Amino acid sequence: MAVSGALARSDGKDYPGEMTVFVFLACLVASSGGLIFGYDIGISGGVTSMDPFLVRFFPSVYAKEQEVVETNQYCKFDSALLTLFTSSLYLAALIASLFASVVTRKCGRRMSMLGGGVIFLAGAILNGFAINIAMLIVGRIFLGIGVGFSNQAVPLYLSEMAPAKTRGMLNISFQLMITLGILAANLINYFTAKISGGWGWRLSLGLAAVPALIMAGGSLFLPDTPNSLVARGKEEEARAMLRRIRGTHDVGLEYDDLVAASEASKAIENPWKTLLERRYRPQLAMAILIPTLQQLTGINVVMFYAPVLFKTIGFGGTASLMSSVISGGVNMLATFVSIAAVDRLGRRKLLLEGGCQMIVAQFVLGTLILIKFGTDGVASISRPYAIGVVFCICVFVSAFAWSWGPLGWLVPSEIFPLEIRSAAQSMVVVFNMAFTFIIAQIFLMLLCKLKFGLFYFFGACELVMTLFVYFFLPETKGIPIEEMDRIWGRHWYWKRFVDDAAGAGNNRKVQMASNAV
Ligand code: BGC
Repeated sequence: MAVSGALARSDGKDYPGEMTVFVFLACLVASSGGLIFGYDIGISGGVTSMDPFLVRFFPSVYAKEQEVVETNQYCKFDSALLTLFTSSLYLAALIASLFASVVTRKCGRRMSMLGGGVIFLAGAILNGFAINIAMLIVGRIFLGIGVGFSNQAVPLYLSEMAPAKTRGMLNISFQLMITLGILAANLINYFTAKISGGWGWRLSLGLAAVPALIMAGGSLFLPDTPNSLVARGKEEEARAMLRRIRGTHDVGLEYDDLVAASEASKAIENPWKTLLERRYRPQLAMAILIPTLQQLTGINVVMFYAPVLFKTIGFGGTASLMSSVISGGVNMLATFVSIAAVDRLGRRKLLLEGGCQMIVAQFVLGTLILIKFGTDGVASISRPYAIGVVFCICVFVSAFAWSWGPLGWLVPSEIFPLEIRSAAQSMVVVFNMAFTFIIAQIFLMLLCKLKFGLFYFFGACELVMTLFVYFFLPETKGIPIEEMDRIWGRHWYWKRFVDDAAGAGNNRKVQMASNAV
């Protein structure tokens, strides 16, 4: 049984079968959920740096921005309303993912993706036609609901469809789509900002409808995962699906494990309460810490505020948008490194290397800004200096893009046993969105207060998370998803929780055996 690993029969070896074209295509379509998330991340920073948008919705921010260069550069964009526009989406996503957990478990992963795509579409339309702040914020809340559903369902979908050997690679297609969405948004902003007449921002916001249509339309044709079909009592359909996606008739072993996992999950009435049980402590810790730490890298400071940040250090409007196109491009290209390496090198090596590289980049960045802007935040910078800053940002972004970016979604989606999988994945989305929200909400204020020290702060967080990976994260490469529980039993720290549970499980078995006699 998946809970204790006692009945898992493949002995840690992979099941028969290969990655089929069918699985590849299904994963490609499903990962388009990443597009809608990425588009959101990339679009708001650029839009909030467009003057016509600011004049219309945030005139006081615009007025402050127009003041002479001697204003403190660290503080000129600090507006609660402006940050609320960016971050309202993440709050909505957080709440929506809790509802998505029920839909994903009871109606299948596909249903959550379909629902998410449709609501997201409504948000894009509202935003594109916005005539006041209310329409803008309500639209963003709809977009958030869409993201909450899709981020809850897509990573699970991908990890369940994929064969263990290529699970990392297939799952990272989600992150690849996130980065593609961000880059597309950056490019679109770059061009729409130049539209005369000042309505370019409408196009930027409205074009979110495109990824929404891809996701909603695509999920109409997607099959559900065998794991979800078994869990919903559709055994025969599940077996047929398993044969189809593995490209072999020899799926007995994997099917039996799915059924065993599903039996275990049926015995559980309340997955949320179960998640809090001591035996699931390793999974619970990961569901909270991985997404939280991913956000504490500070990545979204760059993703949301790159244009604002570049303007802060003295770039012109177009140069700012262009620089964010560059960091967006680096973000996407570096994701391919992860795709190529994750199932060979494993998850830990990528996280450790990426962590160290991010620490160095943040400390150098903080120091560059310290030297130039000091504590009063007044300076103008030369071209070579500006290039140095952009270079540091790219070093940081590329490290994130092959480590914590993709693995922040991959690792949680592969470590939860079926009985708590949907609930635990919601927890991942909740923590990811909560910290995305917090960072989006307080970044401009922190920049104003901590100044260059903000970059040192993120550097320190990266040090902590790298130590965390080193000591507490076991390797998950190549292990079948319904057998993942065995990694905790072998880990120096986590084994105490699993040992206790196994002891209790054995006692129960002995008890049952003696009852039977
Ligand atoms: C993170 C986002 C981030 C993006 C950048 C994702 O994995 O969850 O918060 O903006 O990567 O590529």
